[in-house]
Amino acid sequence: MLYAGIDVGSLSTDVVLVDSDLQIKGYSIIPTGADSKKAAGESLDEALSQAGASQEDIGEIIATGYGRISVSFASDRVTEITCHARGANRLFPQAKTVIDIGGQDSKAIRLNRRGRAVDFAMNDKCAAGTGRFLEVMARALELDLEELAGHSLKAEKTVPISNMCAVFAESEVVSLIAEGNPREEIIKGLHVSVAERTLSLARRIGYQSPVVMTGGVAKNAGVIRALEEKLETELLIPEEPQIIGALGAAVIAFERAQKEVS
Ligand SMILES: Nc1ncnc2c1ncn2[C@@H]1O[C@H](COP(=O)(O)OP(=O)(O)OP(=O)(O)O)[C@@H](O)[C@H]1O
Ligand SMILES: [Mg+2]
Repeated sequence: MLYAGIDVGSLSTDVVLVDSDLQIKGYSIIPTGADSKKAAGESLDEALSQAGASQEDIGEIIATGYGRISVSFASDRVTEITCHARGANRLFPQAKTVIDIGGQDSKAIRLNRRGRAVDFAMNDKCAAGTGRFLEVMARALELDLEELAGHSLKAEKTVPISNMCAVFAESEVVSLIAEGNPREEIIKGLHVSVAERTLSLARRIGYQSPVVMTGGVAKNAGVIRALEEKLETELLIPEEPQIIGALGAAVIAFERAQKEVS
């Protein structure tokens, strides 16, 4: 039997399938797009085919993420805070803090000894410090998102970015390029800006090491390095950080199914 977690995020819809030993048997990451229900179905089908399984093999489905309400075929819905905490704890039982930076949200979550979320802080309704911020800046720099990290890791200096707001920071970046500042130093400045925003969230919950980073932005090694410097600790990064919310949901799906049979 398999247990499914579906995380319908603002940018990606991720599915994880686990077995009764909580081992990952299949997963999928696809763009959410305009129709989140359709994305959830497609992502589930992709994960099932990776696992060589079909819908009948699924015992329970839990949905999370901002679009969780649209997953009508899920048996229940759980917040992202709970799911990122559970997913991070599944891979790193020693973790005390989780930092999740996705497309539109960034969050710091404090865990208790059993790996449950006991406190959290979240960015306000603004793109500063999120994946969206970096996407806008990559466009201004005429680079692919995946290229940002490589450039910033080469920088010897940092060009500080004074605007936190994505709209103003984009104009600032355009001016900095026009003034002839090296691109890699501007990109490093952007990564430091994301790290500073995240540090203020982490301070609000009194973060402690070990810290796990989840969400798509954890694929950006430039942000990881800047954040490690600000938090003054090494980050634990899952092999596939973008599926940790879905993994947590799958773990909860398994637990719910156990309760139902007992
Ligand atoms: N290969 C990559 N390299 C660098 N950054 C990446 C890569 N893949 C994804 N990202 C970043 O991850 C972000 C999306 O993360 P994620 O899929 O966790 O968001 P989400 O869960 O849909 O959003 P939210 O949780 O805010 O609703 C993108 O904005 C982008 O900045
Ligand atoms: Mg997310």
